[in-house]
Amino acid sequence: MTLQFRADVDLRPYNTFGMAARAAHFCQLDNAADLPALLAHPLYRQGPVLWLGGGSNLLLTRDYPGLVVKVALAGIRLLGEDGDDVIVEAAAGENWHGFVQHALAQGWFGLENLSLIPGTVGASPVQNIGAYGVEVKDRLLEVVCARLDRNGEALTLSNAECRFGYRDSVFKREAAGRLLVTAVRFRLSRRADLRTGYGDIQKQLQADGVDQPTPLDISRAVVAIRQSKLPDPAVLGNAGSFFKNPVVDARQAAALLERHPQLPNYPAADGRVKLAAGWLIDQCGLKGYRDGDAGVHDKQALVLVNHGQATGAQMHALARKVQGSVSEKFGVALEPEPLIL
Ligand code: EPU
Repeated sequence: MTLQFRADVDLRPYNTFGMAARAAHFCQLDNAADLPALLAHPLYRQGPVLWLGGGSNLLLTRDYPGLVVKVALAGIRLLGEDGDDVIVEAAAGENWHGFVQHALAQGWFGLENLSLIPGTVGASPVQNIGAYGVEVKDRLLEVVCARLDRNGEALTLSNAECRFGYRDSVFKREAAGRLLVTAVRFRLSRRADLRTGYGDIQKQLQADGVDQPTPLDISRAVVAIRQSKLPDPAVLGNAGSFFKNPVVDARQAAALLERHPQLPNYPAADGRVKLAAGWLIDQCGLKGYRDGDAGVHDKQALVLVNHGQATGAQMHALARKVQGSVSEKFGVALEPEPLIL
């Protein structure tokens, strides 16, 4: 099917925060073969252009003045096998959790800790999604991209070339607006290599009465934990963690820990220390706080929620209030995780 452009489109179904913004123009990319035509189209050339996956890491504070392209490329295939390892490719528009479940059903293990993360496969390397002790970079072989400045010509980036960091990659930096992720290749395994170190997973497995867990048990445990803490975007609009966990230097961490011994902290690169932003926000008394329909989730303070009709500007104002409180009480700056437009 050829590309279909629509004007003045309601973006509510396309962002998990449920923000009522409109796109001046909108089209869906179902087929990679349509990419050259899209890149040559006057609406694309005129810009600005927003490439959209699942819309689960986005806060829209106003109408979008240009073209929104929903990436809907589909397909999952086994590319090859190497001993116990399997090389699997998933197209960018595949739903992330659907792909994780498909992999588990085939006996391709390694992604079970990343169960139930909202969004698409194509967005997974952009911010190096991670949960319960695993990041997508740990299982990713390479990323297939289209060069936006070269008529959609294909370019494959190795794991190292993606320069992954905590919720960070080259796609957020130098490659932003220049490369579109069209597919992701993973190295998975037929042999289970379980990551059960995360406290919450151990507690959940115990509660489920599982003492010799399979990858499927881990997936079920992660789904149960996420459902108990994180709001379902279909019920309560949200974009997952709204802030990154802040990374501070060793001296600041030591000073904070002296005053707040309970502060959850984890070692980060270069002797730095990652702090639990959810705990900091919680300690400011903001868990469950609400200003109209813009709120802080009552079960996990790191998540901001739309109780119904909150506008993007109201959500943004709440985010600034949270940042202000944490900065005042702890001297720590919180950086938003979603793209704010
Ligand atoms: N905490 C509180 N109060 C709160 C929230 C958290 O005291 O309201 C404490 C918890 O008790 C725990 C610590 O803070 O000791 C960390 O909380 P949690 O284990 O829930 O994880 P997180 O650090 O808040 C991160 C990721 C999540 C991921 C979980 C599990 C970021 C920004 N968030 O959250 O990712 O699911 O770990 O691995 O790194 C996302 O990025 O959207 C996301 C949901």
